[in-house]
Amino acid sequence: MSARRDVRSVVVGCGGYLPARIVANADLAASMETSDEWITERTGIRQRHIAADGEKTSDLARVAAERALKAAGLAAADVDLLVLATTTPDETFPATAVRVQSALGMGPCPAFDVQAVCSGFVYALAIADNFIRLGQARTALVIGAETFSRILDWKDRGTAVLFGDGAGAVVLRAASPGGAALPRGILTTHLHADGRFHDALYVDGGPSSTPGRVGVVKMNGREVFRHAVDKLSAVVEEALTANGLKGTDIDWLVPHQANRRIIDGMARKLGLGPDRVVITVDRHANTSAASIPLALWEAHADGRLKPGQIVLLEAIGGGLTWGAAVIRW
Ligand code: UT7
Repeated sequence: MSARRDVRSVVVGCGGYLPARIVANADLAASMETSDEWITERTGIRQRHIAADGEKTSDLARVAAERALKAAGLAAADVDLLVLATTTPDETFPATAVRVQSALGMGPCPAFDVQAVCSGFVYALAIADNFIRLGQARTALVIGAETFSRILDWKDRGTAVLFGDGAGAVVLRAASPGGAALPRGILTTHLHADGRFHDALYVDGGPSSTPGRVGVVKMNGREVFRHAVDKLSAVVEEALTANGLKGTDIDWLVPHQANRRIIDGMARKLGLGPDRVVITVDRHANTSAASIPLALWEAHADGRLKPGQIVLLEAIGGGLTWGAAVIRW
C-alpha cells in the first residue's frame, strides 16, 4: 500500500479497566516496614488496584478494549491492527495481543506486543500512528495492560509500594484532514532509548537468562528519578519545538503516572497549573504501560478532554526508554 501523507490518526474511543481489589497504603504498612505517610509524601500514591488470582493481563486488556470500542461505536471486526504494550505478558509467547484478539472475536489482522516498560503505551501509539499514516491500517486498537503485581518482590518496600495493575485502550482511526486549518489527531511522536542505563530499572529474570524463573523488579529509585527529570524535560522540549508550541499552549498534560513529584516538576516547567494536568497516580499508583491510557480514559469520560485541545503525553521507563506524543484531541 502506498503512503498517505495527508492522513492523521484520530482518537475515536477510550476505555479502561481496573481490578476490583483495592490495596491502600495502610494495608501494605501492615505487612512491610513502610507507612502511609512515607508513600503519600514521596510519591503521591494512596492506593493501587491488584488483579485477582487467575486474572491475567489479557483479561484486563480485553475489558479495556471492549470499552474503548463501545465508546468509538465500532465493532471488534472493524479493527485492522492491534498493538498491545505490556511488560507482564500472560506467557513468554505468543504475544498477549493475540490472546486479546481472539477474546474480542476479531478476525485476522496484525497483532503484536510492544515491550518498552512504562514508555510502552507511547511506543505502541507511535507504531500504530505510523501504520495508519502509511496506509497500512485504518482502525487501530492500542492497549497498555499490566499485572505488575506479579513481578514485584513483596519484601522490597522500595518497589512494592509503587506499582498497581490495570489496562487502558484507545481506538485510532485514519482521517483525512481535508482543508481543515487545525486537523485533529496525533501530531507528532518522539521515542528514545538508552540501554546503557539498563541497571537502573530491570527484572532480574526471564526465559533466556534464568530459565524457569520470571524474576522481580529491581530499581535504583533515586537514579531513575534523576533521569526522569532530565529526559522528560528534553523530550517534552523536542515535542513542543516540533510543533511550534510553547508550554502554555498545552491544554492537558497526560503524563505517565510514576510519582507525583515528577509530574508536578514537569507541569511547573511547562508553566501549567494543576488544573491542566491529569492525575491518577494517587488512586492507581504506577501501572506502567497502562497509566497513560487509563488517564486518557478518565479525563475523556468526565469531559475534561475536548475536541481540538492540545494534549501532551510523556513517559519514561525501564530500558531506559522514554518518549512523548502531541495530540490535537
Ligand atoms: O515508572 C518507571 C519510572 N519510575 C520512576 O519514575 C520512579 C522514580 N523514583 C522515585 O519515584 C523515587 O525515587 C522513589 C519514590 C522510588 C523513592 O523516593 P526517594 O525520595 O528517592 O527515596 P530514596 O530512595 O532516596 O529513599 C529514602 C529513604 C531510604 O532510607 P534511608 O537510606 O534514608 O534511611 C529508604 O530506605 O526512604 C527509605 N524507603 C522507604 N521508607 C518507607 C524506601 N522505600 C520506603 C518505603 N517506606 N516504601
